[in-house]
Amino acid sequence: RKKGFIFDLDGVIVDTAKYHYKAWKRLADQLGIPFSKESNEQFKGVSRKRCLELLLEWGNYKATPEQFEEWMAEKNRDYLEYIHKMDASEILPDVPRILQYLKLHHMPMAVGSASKNAKPILEKVGLSHYFDFVVDGTQVTKAKPDPEVFLIAANKLGVDPRNCVVFEDAVAGIEAANAAKMTSIGIGDGQILSHANYVFRDFTDIDLGFIAELIDKG
Ligand code: G6P
Ligand code: MG
Repeated sequence: RKKGFIFDLDGVIVDTAKYHYKAWKRLADQLGIPFSKESNEQFKGVSRKRCLELLLEWGNYKATPEQFEEWMAEKNRDYLEYIHKMDASEILPDVPRILQYLKLHHMPMAVGSASKNAKPILEKVGLSHYFDFVVDGTQVTKAKPDPEVFLIAANKLGVDPRNCVVFEDAVAGIEAANAAKMTSIGIGDGQILSHANYVFRDFTDIDLGFIAELIDKG
């Protein structure tokens, strides 16, 4: 049966969480709202709008619709400054090894991300050519843990969702993959990602034999 491989972007392919953190931290400081690395964990896989809603909730802060729009824009302007400086050195370890192997075996591949900046980031780090489709925050209406982003990706790839494999670093992303009936592979901490079908600390822990089994299975 035809298989499909879907990758989350932030925290799976590139380490952008640190830039999201810096940009949110600056806004939070400006608004006088406490914001830590731990708080940032809850922003992973979560849309920009929802992140700001959460931040304002935590700070018990009321914003007018105009302020809300301005702060979202401000955070993104800041984030884009970091993104503009990105290059291939910010690809997470061994990601190209897995992408190359899948390409060699002619596997359909897509990115499934909540980010509206997914395409420029892939361009910056030089990985765009691996992916047949990029489904990003400009195309989805329902955020992870809703399976929408991954179902759109499967549909574009022309692969039955049950034959798709998803790589994710966020709890919400694993839930989304599971809800789509896809094989979920957590990248990160096994205790945090306990609902994933498989978990690896990072791509350096993934054996090509394991990928070969995913390709051949079922
Ligand atoms: C990814 C990240 C989130 C981020 C979201 C939106 O899912 O993990 O931390 O908030 O994308 O990103 P954007 O680039 O559209 O602000
Ligand atoms: Mg992620």
